[in-house]
Amino acid sequence: MADRPADDEVRDLGERVLAPLADEIERSVEAALRPRKLDEFVGQQTVRAQLSLVLEAATARGVAPDHILLSGPPGLGKTTLAMIVAAELGASLRVTSGPAIQHAGDLAAVLSSLEEGEVLFLDEIHRLARPAEELLYVAMEDFRVDVVVGKGAGASAIPLTLPPFTVVGATTRSGLLPAPLRDRFGFTGHLDYYDAFELEKVLHRSARLLDVPLAADAATEIARRSRGTPRIANRLLRRVRDWAQVRGTGDMDLAAARAALEVYEVDPIGLDRLDRSVLDALCTRFRGGPVGLTTLALTVGEEPETVETVAEPYLVREGLIARTPRGRVATPAAWRHLGLEPPTDQGTLFRA
Ligand SMILES: Nc1ncnc2c1ncn2[C@@H]1O[C@H](COP(=O)(O)OP(=O)(O)O)[C@@H](O)[C@H]1O
Ligand SMILES: [Mg+2]
Repeated sequence: MADRPADDEVRDLGERVLAPLADEIERSVEAALRPRKLDEFVGQQTVRAQLSLVLEAATARGVAPDHILLSGPPGLGKTTLAMIVAAELGASLRVTSGPAIQHAGDLAAVLSSLEEGEVLFLDEIHRLARPAEELLYVAMEDFRVDVVVGKGAGASAIPLTLPPFTVVGATTRSGLLPAPLRDRFGFTGHLDYYDAFELEKVLHRSARLLDVPLAADAATEIARRSRGTPRIANRLLRRVRDWAQVRGTGDMDLAAARAALEVYEVDPIGLDRLDRSVLDALCTRFRGGPVGLTTLALTVGEEPETVETVAEPYLVREGLIARTPRGRVATPAAWRHLGLEPPTDQGTLFRA
């Protein structure tokens, strides 16, 4: 039951301390900080209440619960919840992912080896290949899989009945899931970004597990810069711990938090160097825009895809930039964040 990452989640983080995805080394560190039970899982009130009902009802009836879909941005706890589902059911967990399944046969092999009541975690489920997806529909609905034996003209399909099991699917892009697949999940939980108070709770819990004292004001400071994402909060916490141990007194106090985050160029609202150079280019080079993504990316020396998927979502969420049909536009808040006065002649789109 390895906690194996989806292939596409293992990326070189480079210098990006604020990346929402984890690399392989980080995965092992994360495993130690994962809540094991629903009660330990911080925040996400709605999903937690719904999920606990689904699980308790199934347990009371002595059946496998409905298939469960978890959707939301990276780092918010989808993998953690999948593991919690299995733990709460006292079931074993099988882990695979859309990108790891190359052929329908790979999925058939996994399905046909499932035991009664097992939980099958399918990470990045929107990336399953079409033939595997179709096999999955049937398995989820009718608990049946056709196992192909032989090759070529002599091949035949032997229908195999599967024991009851539960699929937990996770996706960062629920919009990409075909409707028939989405419909086969009896329960869908949407995870949303955490507020600062919830992140503080995550941080205090992690500090206890790491056995390093964390001052309340330091937790507040780290939470504010964590982009609503527990994975980022835990990562920044480890950087603060490093600083405290190497340069400080060992305690994670406010001074240590500020100093460490300064070293990693994480600013007071959680923007890093790339975010700020995007804002700076938009405000000072293009007078607030609108400017096309490609031009903007070129100006900051990055790939358009990096700017679009890494920097923009948070900048948009924080209300610092907006996407318009004519291009990216800086809002007055962007100018102010850079310590600049918003211009008064920026057109009618955003007036300060
Ligand atoms: N609600 C939560 N409470 C405490 N820790 C959390 C919570 N959600 C996520 N984490 C922590 O954040 C890290 C990333 O969570 P993960 O489940 O891997 O996110 P995802 O699968 O959505 O990318 C894990 O180390 C986990 O400990
Ligand atoms: Mg995950």
